[in-house]
Amino acid sequence: EKGGYDHFMLKEIHEQPDVITDTFRGRLLPEQGIIRMAGIEDNLEKFLKADKITIAACGTSWHAALVAEYIIEEFARIPVEVEYASEFRYRNPIISENDILIAISQSGETADTLAAIKLAKERGAFVFGVCNVVGSSIARETHAGAYTHAGPEIGVASTKAFTTQITVLTLIALRLAKAKGTLSNSDYQMYLNEMGTIPAKVEEALKQNEEVLKIAQVYKDAPNCLYLGRGYNYPVALEGALKLKEISYIHAEGYPAAEMKHGPIALIDEHMPVVVVAQNQNHYDKIVSNVQEIKARNGKIIAVVTKGDTQVRDLADHVIEVPSISEALSPIITTIPLQLLSYHIAVLRNCNVDQPRNLAKSVTVE
Ligand code: M6R
Repeated sequence: EKGGYDHFMLKEIHEQPDVITDTFRGRLLPEQGIIRMAGIEDNLEKFLKADKITIAACGTSWHAALVAEYIIEEFARIPVEVEYASEFRYRNPIISENDILIAISQSGETADTLAAIKLAKERGAFVFGVCNVVGSSIARETHAGAYTHAGPEIGVASTKAFTTQITVLTLIALRLAKAKGTLSNSDYQMYLNEMGTIPAKVEEALKQNEEVLKIAQVYKDAPNCLYLGRGYNYPVALEGALKLKEISYIHAEGYPAAEMKHGPIALIDEHMPVVVVAQNQNHYDKIVSNVQEIKARNGKIIAVVTKGDTQVRDLADHVIEVPSISEALSPIITTIPLQLLSYHIAVLRNCNVDQPRNLAKSVTVE
């Protein structure tokens, strides 16, 4: 049942190239320059007229929402707000019939997310679901939606659900951008073509497994760990930290890299591993200087770099190379080594990877 893997989590990590392909199937048609998603086509006018999109979710799905915020705003120029479903439902949020709520949930059963949907519906908003479990409560409660085709996710730590959520949300952003004319035709086509390369690039990122295992052996006993990223990779840092916390019980925090100097940098000394997602694009010089700041304080740097990178490699204690892709699409790739890192550390610490203490796969109580 684990397909030859020791744990469901590892199996699910390795399924990602295939399930992302499944999520694309019938939707991403680069040769025709088309993205086709029934739930969006049928409701295109609503999306185009919306004053704003609010995205409500919990945990890892909330991290996918943060990535979506950056992508939808950049590509489709629609204002997006991301809310923890648990906060949204209890704070009299500003949402009305001109708004759209997107609810993201792997299980489709998360109590707080379900309550956020009900509230948004009461206020007249159009509610769109991004769920993995077909026929789940959230899939049924929403007006329309798009499934992630990740297949059953058994490991409590979400992996393939996260990358397929980002896949679906990126397709939505591109479809809306096409309808609004907010991306040039050439950029739109370039992103479509690049989307098609993601499964192979995820496969390539998975080949870093041995490298990641070696790093895990060095840091398995660390009591703390920081994760840093900028832009599209800031949510990836949050997700990397959550994965480590959940399954290895090591205290970890994710931050936007530039926030370091506003406090967390005080934590850095020779005992602190810092995982930096350092893609060589929009913010490269900034991320290089963030890495220098850590180095100057003797922090241990584990960098996820773009293939061929030299500057960060020179500064870092360890590097994990991932294939190059446009930064907006990079979270699906950069998150892979962070999943593997948390997995290996947890296994080395003899933790119950698939069933971590105190956690349940779906949180149906608030
Ligand atoms: O099923 P959902 O996506 O609604 O679940 C949300 C969170 O409970 C979930 O992502 C949780 O944080 C995972 N354990 C993360 O790995």
